[in-house]
Amino acid sequence: MDIDWLALRAAAAAVAPRAYAPYSGLTVGAAGVDAGGTMVTGCNVENASYGLTLCAECGLVSAQRAAGAGALVAVSVVAGDGAPLVPCGRCRQLLLEAGGPGLLLDSEAGPQRLGDLLPGAFTAGDLASRRTNRDPSDGARDA
Ligand code: THU
Repeated sequence: MDIDWLALRAAAAAVAPRAYAPYSGLTVGAAGVDAGGTMVTGCNVENASYGLTLCAECGLVSAQRAAGAGALVAVSVVAGDGAPLVPCGRCRQLLLEAGGPGLLLDSEAGPQRLGDLLPGAFTAGDLASRRTNRDPSDGARDA
């Protein structure tokens, strides 16, 4: 699939001004597409209780689910200045489950594979193979 990186970056830049970032002053916009061409966007939303801040990528993956979009194949994350921003570690993990290691991320140096930016990630496979409590609901009952 041909990715229109300019359009993707423009969509991310268009949503960045809608961010709620009164504490950091860093507005962030994110845009992604699935293999069918469905595009979704998100922006960061901060909170007076700083740790509750939602990165733009959180909004992006929520929009992906809400739109019924498939796995994301390409994502552009930009700051308010319109230039690409490298997703934080938590959001690399979030994007991994929304698109997989082959997801391409926009950067000034050209598209980068998410798998290269997050090597050795913890995945659902680790969860399934390493759990010692075979019935996860046991924990809930014991709590
Ligand atoms: N931020 C994002 O939205 N995505 C990232 O990948 C990095 C950081 C936001 C969170 C916070 O609102 C602001 O940037 C400063 O950290």
